[in-house]
Amino acid sequence: MQSAEELYRFASRYLPGGVCASARSNPALGHPFFVSRGEGPYVYDLDGRPYVDMCTSHGASLLGHNHPAIRAAVSRALELGIICAYETEHHSALAQRLCELVPCAEMARFAGSGTETVMHGLRLARAATGRERIIKFEGHFHGYSDHLYYSSAPPLAQAGPADSPRPYPQSAGMPRALADLITIVPFNDPDALAAAFARHGHEVATLILEPINYDSGCILPRPGFIELCRALCDQYGVLLFFDEVLTAFRVGLAGAQGCFGVTPDLAVLGKAFGGGMPISALVGRRPIMAHLRPEGASEHSGTYLAHLTTVLAARAALHEYAQGGFYERLAELGQRFYDGFGEIIRRSGVSCRLQYAGPRFGLYFGVDEPVWNYRQAAGQREEMLLVFITGCIRRGVYFHVSAHHGFSAAHTRADLDRALEAIEGGMADVRDQFMVGR
Ligand SMILES: Cc1ncc(COP(=O)(O)O)c(C=O)c1O
Repeated sequence: MQSAEELYRFASRYLPGGVCASARSNPALGHPFFVSRGEGPYVYDLDGRPYVDMCTSHGASLLGHNHPAIRAAVSRALELGIICAYETEHHSALAQRLCELVPCAEMARFAGSGTETVMHGLRLARAATGRERIIKFEGHFHGYSDHLYYSSAPPLAQAGPADSPRPYPQSAGMPRALADLITIVPFNDPDALAAAFARHGHEVATLILEPINYDSGCILPRPGFIELCRALCDQYGVLLFFDEVLTAFRVGLAGAQGCFGVTPDLAVLGKAFGGGMPISALVGRRPIMAHLRPEGASEHSGTYLAHLTTVLAARAALHEYAQGGFYERLAELGQRFYDGFGEIIRRSGVSCRLQYAGPRFGLYFGVDEPVWNYRQAAGQREEMLLVFITGCIRRGVYFHVSAHHGFSAAHTRADLDRALEAIEGGMADVRDQFMVGR
């Protein structure tokens, strides 16, 4: 049996950084977390040791790992011949179901990752409006495409003024010219948003946002802010685009748009949508979606789009989410867990803010005030988070070094109690290292 260190050395010879996706590195471990399998709320390391999973595939495994309904769906797709690049009755049935559940959905298209679906949504928004500029919020993440991978986590020294941030490219290799097409605005700042619209509104195709900004931890919109986004879009003929890759089916069957009662023109649904299988959906109003080929002139195509294995998995996942009591149970589990977590933070004396919405949450070490925007979130102390996560992993609970964490519907009270024990230990490690003598 090879150790994680040995596997990492081997993997690094063939995979840059030893990983297939850079976000899978884990600085708390010094190597990626190598798992041998997953089952329900647990992932197992190379030695077969179980860990309560508080990463849950970055939010994709909302049903837990290896859910029987998802397995059955994948088996069914295999029986049907691993159909790929053909339409079936299941594709339109899935689209119809989304149109029943999600307020803005009058039509749907599917693709694999959130990144590619958001990218297609952006092209569609540009085609439908005949405009090119995008407004996005600082600290909001919309995947890795060259068009949108700006200012999701900029270093503060290079982020520009707080009320009019400059577009910060999050990767080398992004064409410089694309930065001219994007305007970055601080989240939850009505004046800054109104000023951006006053300046650019008539050339903007879309305002894109995470309606709950999990990618900066867990930042909710202030009351009235999403409504202001809708009103400004209406005033300037701009399409309101919700990136619900993380919020879809997590905060309710109708997503964040259902929770807030504000309907965008376009939305992307991802992660939990496929129950752990790689599928996401672009949904929107019929006149906008009609711009897609072959009805319209905006391209959206690909050999592997809406692979049947993923379509059947998504149908199965939606069936599970629609079971009576699904979200009530998540809410009840969450309240108990978050109450316990808050109590542990208080008792430890560690400076740490916990913010949550549904079964996902953010932690801000070194921050005590409510966090409403990226600049506040960026004030957290990463070194404290690393000590916390290292302590939790040592105690059998897996946290990834990420802005957001969460549990799944497969987690029981007992699993979350087990997590809380490790969290108490991890917090004690942080206190001993950072708070003693203060
Ligand atoms: C809000 C949001 N949008 C888009 C993406 C990109 O999705 P994917 O990782 O499936 O490409 C993510 C992924 O973390 C996300 O959180």
